[in-house]
Amino acid sequence: MFSVKFKTTEELPEPSPRLIDQIIGQDEALNIVLSAVSNKRHVILLGDPGVGKSMIVKAVGELIEKSPSSDFTPYTIISKPNLKYPEKPIVELIEGTYKEDVDDIKPKVIKQPPGLLTLILIMVFFTLLTSYFMRGLSQAHLLAVIATTAIVSFALAFVLVFLAMFGATRGAMSNTVSPLDLKPVVLYECKKRPLVKASAYNVTKLLGDVRHCPLGGKPPLGTPPHKRIILGAIHEAHKGILYVDEIKTMPPEVQDYILTALQDKCLPISGRNPNSSGATVETNPIPCDFILIMSGNMDVSST
Ligand SMILES: Nc1ncnc2c1ncn2[C@@H]1O[C@H](COP(=O)(O)OP(=O)(O)O)[C@@H](O)[C@H]1O
Ligand SMILES: [Mg+2]
Repeated sequence: MFSVKFKTTEELPEPSPRLIDQIIGQDEALNIVLSAVSNKRHVILLGDPGVGKSMIVKAVGELIEKSPSSDFTPYTIISKPNLKYPEKPIVELIEGTYKEDVDDIKPKVIKQPPGLLTLILIMVFFTLLTSYFMRGLSQAHLLAVIATTAIVSFALAFVLVFLAMFGATRGAMSNTVSPLDLKPVVLYECKKRPLVKASAYNVTKLLGDVRHCPLGGKPPLGTPPHKRIILGAIHEAHKGILYVDEIKTMPPEVQDYILTALQDKCLPISGRNPNSSGATVETNPIPCDFILIMSGNMDVSST
């Protein structure tokens, strides 16, 4: 193998920086993976640890990253609120980059309360005005006017406090949604053909999830469902390659999900934890058209 004669290591040729050229042997496996990638087929690599399975996939990923592919167009995945069924947020795939519609999310102008100086000026003005009108009154009349004013203002303040309390409660309970809660959220921007690596046991990373919201998941207090979606590796690998390593550790139900994704080329995301408020949320089917490469140890066939 090492038939090159040399006196110092300077004479030795430098290895190619390309990972694909660094693979020793494994020609058949490499050809199978390359052919599967160019023909949009799926591969499963079985072999002892350390024979270069992950290395082959990494090298192929490097290759497709550097070669300009004509059939790939960048895309963006966004999620929008569903006004009719809030627990079914809408996830859309947009070709190219997503541009926000600025008009939709103009922040509301919040009314500022009057400043301290303005309040003092108003009080001084009213004091001068009342002292001007009451200058000719006798002491008994003056007392009667002060008592009446105090009673009337006390009753008014009472009504105002009650109105404010009711108003505040109604405001919190009503369906009025802030424009910021209606704003679509960018979940993922894909600029080049992706190679997404995921371990078989990490179900959330693989299939996506919906985060828990301790405040009920309803605006204005909670976070709306469309802002709690986590995309899975299968969605991020759309138009690219999904590499699932250590398939021995894959739970059986995940195999079903991946099979469905391969057949339908789309899969919805739903909350995986039954104790979380995300469990009631389910999106529409999200496109996931990927090439699947899986790898594992030889003894996977016996389990
Ligand atoms: N055929 C090979 N040619 C060159 N290096 C290899 C080869 N197989 C394994 N290696 C080296 O061993 C390391 C581990 O290999 P890896 O691809 O992770 O093995 P596996 O995924 O099959 O367990 C690689 O990063 C690489 O440096
Ligand atoms: Mg490996």
